[in-house]
Amino acid sequence: MTQEFSAWMGGIQARMETALGRQLPPQGALPARLHDAMRYAVLGGGKRVRPLLVFAAGEVADAPEASLEVVAGAIEMIHAYSLVHDDLPCMDNDDLRRGRPTVHKEFDYATALLAGDALQAQATLILSDRHVAPDAAAQLEMLRVLAQASGSRGMCGGQQIDLDAVGKPLTEPELELMHIHKTGALIRASVTLGTLCGTPLSPQESAKLDHYAKCVGLLFQVVDDILDVTQDSATLGKTAGKDAKDDKPTYVSILGLAEARRKAQTLLEDALAALEPFGTRARCLRELAEFITSRSF
Ligand code: IPE
Ligand code: IPE
Ligand code: MG
Ligand code: MG
Ligand code: MG
Repeated sequence: MTQEFSAWMGGIQARMETALGRQLPPQGALPARLHDAMRYAVLGGGKRVRPLLVFAAGEVADAPEASLEVVAGAIEMIHAYSLVHDDLPCMDNDDLRRGRPTVHKEFDYATALLAGDALQAQATLILSDRHVAPDAAAQLEMLRVLAQASGSRGMCGGQQIDLDAVGKPLTEPELELMHIHKTGALIRASVTLGTLCGTPLSPQESAKLDHYAKCVGLLFQVVDDILDVTQDSATLGKTAGKDAKDDKPTYVSILGLAEARRKAQTLLEDALAALEPFGTRARCLRELAEFITSRSF
C-alpha cells in the first residue's frame, strides 16, 4: 500500500466517523435506548470500505465531497443494519462484531431488530433530505439504486439464499449468485452512487466502472470467506471459523483454500483491467481493490 493511499484512506475513515456521528440521531435523543443502539452499531469501528468506494468512484466523476459524504453515510448505515441483523440469533447468531459484543448482546434482541430497521430508514432519510445529485431526477435514481441493492433482489435476497444454503453443497455458480447478492449488491451500488454525485460519465465509462464494481463485490466476499478460515477472532474482530461451524457453503468449502485464493486474484486482475481507460483518475479505485484483496480483517 502506498503512503499516499494509506493517508487518503485514513482521511476518509476519520471524516466518515464525524459525518456519521452527525447523520445519526443525536446521543440521548428519545427513545435513547434505540438511538444508543443505532450509534453503537455504526460508530467506532469498521473498515468503511463502502464509503471508501463511494469517494474513490466520486473522484472519477469529479463529484463534490459534500455530496459523497451523504451518499457514503447512507450506504454505511445500510451496511451496519445488515450486520446487526446478520448477527442475530435467527441468522448467524454471533456474539462478536468489530471487536465488541454484537448489538443484541450489548442491548437485546428486540432493540437490535429495531436499530437495524431504523438505520435503514435513516439511510433513506439522509439521502432524500439533501441535494446530492445535479437534479431531482438524478437524486430519485440514487434512491432507486440504494433500494434495489438493499432489498429482495440485492442484499436481503442474498441473505435468504445464504440461510437456505446451510448444509447444502452449492455449485460454484450458485455460490456466486449468493455472494453477488448478499455482499456484491451494496458494493456495486457504492460505486454507482459515487459517480452519480458527479459529472455524468459516458455509457462506455459507466459500463467499465460497473464491471469493476461487480468484480470487487464478489472479490470482497471471497476474501471474507478466506479470512474466516485463515485468521483468528482477535484479528477479525468477529468469531473465526464460524462458516465451517455453521456448515455454510463458502468459496473455501467448495473450492478449497488455494483455489479460493486464485479466484480472488483473478477477480482482482479483472477489476483492474476494467479501470485501464481511466488512467490516474482511478488511482484510489485501483488501490482499494488491492487493499480488499490483501486485507487481514
Ligand atoms: C462484513 O463486512 C460483512 C460482509 C459483507 C462480508 P465488512 O468486512 O465490510 O465489515 P466492517 O464494516 O469492516 O466491520
Ligand atoms: C454477511 O456475510 C453479508 C451481509 C449482508 C451482512 P457474512 O455472514 O459472511 O458476514 P460476516 O462474516 O458475519 O461479517
Ligand atoms: Mg451471514
Ligand atoms: Mg455473519
Ligand atoms: Mg463471513
